[in-house]
Amino acid sequence: MTGKKIEIHYEEYSSLEEMNAADCELVKAAFEAQKTSYAPYSHFNVGAAVLLEDGTVVKGSNQENAASPSGLCAERTAMFAAGATHPGVPMVAMAIAGGPEFTLCSNPATPCGACRQVMAEYQKIGRRPMSIILTGKDKIWKFEKVDDVLPFIFDSI
Ligand code: THU
Repeated sequence: MTGKKIEIHYEEYSSLEEMNAADCELVKAAFEAQKTSYAPYSHFNVGAAVLLEDGTVVKGSNQENAASPSGLCAERTAMFAAGATHPGVPMVAMAIAGGPEFTLCSNPATPCGACRQVMAEYQKIGRRPMSIILTGKDKIWKFEKVDDVLPFIFDSI
């Protein structure tokens, strides 16, 4: 038996002003997206903004339903909208902002496993890294690629 370790790299920013202009704009788009969240059941509101290679930003928010499995997370709403309206255009970054009652959590809200798997697929077909920016009230985390939020990505091929 050999013990193994993996490392995950990410950057932590203490304010939006510390980030580069493009990332800052994408986070602001995620804030805008959060305002459109429909979450009358969980009261946890999430916004996501996907930046495409051609500069387009596609926003999404969590959309809940009385029949709960019928709802969808913000990240998948945004990615599926981007995939459906801009097919074949790589997704290069996604910013996510979430918290209760349209606020932000102190630590960034982190994406669920299903959303991470969907990120992985779009990163793969885009053939370039998709950076993931998670926004909290007191800190912002930036991961350069989906692999850093989903180690050992499932890949059927
Ligand atoms: N939610 C997201 O939108 N993204 C995630 O990655 C995790 C959870 C939503 C789903 C549900 O509407 C609410 O947050 C509470 O789980």
